[in-house]
Amino acid sequence: MRTSVGIIGAGPAGLLLAHLLRQAGIENVVLENRTRDYVEHRQRAGVLEQNTVDVLRSSGAGERMDRLGLRHDGIELRFAREGHRVDFPSHTGGRSVMVYAQTEVVKDLIAISEQQGGTIRFEAEALAIEKADTGSPLIRYRHEGAEHTLECDIVVACDGFHGIGRQSMPQSLLRTWSHEYPFAWLGILADVPPSCDELIYANHERGFALHSMRSPQVSRLYLQVAPDEDLNAWPDDRIWAELDARFELPGWSLEHGPITEKGITPMRSFVAEPLRYGRLFLAGDAAHIVPPTGAKGLNLAAADATLLAAAIIQAHDKGDESLLDAYSETALRRVWRAEHFSYFMTTMLHRDPHADDFAHRLQLSNLRYIASSEAAAASLAENYVGLPVG
Ligand code: APR
Ligand code: PHB
Repeated sequence: MRTSVGIIGAGPAGLLLAHLLRQAGIENVVLENRTRDYVEHRQRAGVLEQNTVDVLRSSGAGERMDRLGLRHDGIELRFAREGHRVDFPSHTGGRSVMVYAQTEVVKDLIAISEQQGGTIRFEAEALAIEKADTGSPLIRYRHEGAEHTLECDIVVACDGFHGIGRQSMPQSLLRTWSHEYPFAWLGILADVPPSCDELIYANHERGFALHSMRSPQVSRLYLQVAPDEDLNAWPDDRIWAELDARFELPGWSLEHGPITEKGITPMRSFVAEPLRYGRLFLAGDAAHIVPPTGAKGLNLAAADATLLAAAIIQAHDKGDESLLDAYSETALRRVWRAEHFSYFMTTMLHRDPHADDFAHRLQLSNLRYIASSEAAAASLAENYVGLPVG
């Protein structure tokens, strides 16, 4: 089989890239080793920054998001038993975020691909990327028990942190940076209306907690736990009691309801450079991971896909490869900003079990600064809603 752009991975990065290329009339094939049902149902993040909302809308993939998504104009920082709201539009020239689950974005992009005759091959495992340093790279993959070859002009690895894309780059070319955190998140979905209108990020002596949501009927909540935490040690009653304690605020209470899903999310920061070798490009989690506290993972994946689509379209339509040549550097500038913001949010809000009380006082001082200074609030707001993609 032959196509113009071979894409590995049907997560948000691969699906959005395929969609944007299809809108521009550029043929592409997505190879995904999981089933459609699996990728449509795995629980991931839920906040779309303004750029992500804009690109989904302008490319015709935002109809369901605009119907079901919840526009949020701020967040609450809760600490020392007080709540402080950070407003977004007033600090960012009117920008905001949309609470809409990543899994819904994935469903929407798969549905559009189906309607428009796009090619997503599920249960197709990419085995190797070959000839990346020539003008005709190829992907070897396995589908329905047989091995196949997909010949392309360009290969884009959107295959997540454990994919083969990054490993297919010459290891002498690749530089990586990583940071581990001494905690993880225990996340739940519960059939109960959210107890707040906007997300609450809580710094508490017992550890971090986050109140998010999926719809007016479904709450999404997280607790900081140990990195090797055993989910079995957390019956529903213990989860609610811990959430009650960490969100404690006079005059406020957390609604409880049936828990429909539980899971542990690891926390890691990781960046690989460069994002290109010859005709092979990396996008999304294949190249970088952020801890979820800044809600940036999905948005970085979408930004990479947006930049790369524009670059491929310019090369395809005009024979001008300047944007392709600039992709790695342009994307990485944004990636490092998001890495810093995610690290900043994570370290400001979590209890590091190895840190001293001095570090805790610094956290509280920084939280108070954001709560009381327009400049500090504006900095958090502009990073949270997302800086310009280009
Ligand atoms: N062949 C085919 N598909 C593969 C292969 C392979 N060898 N290896 C991995 N994949 C698929 C995975 O099954 C997965 O569906 O690549 C996809 C990668 O998707 P994501 O992990 O969702 O990564 P990305 O699109 O970059 O989106 C990043 O997802 O992990 C979250 O928080 C993160 O929100 C961020 C977003
Ligand atoms: C979520 O709703 O899953 C979510 C929201 C905000 C975050 C992380 C996750 O920072």
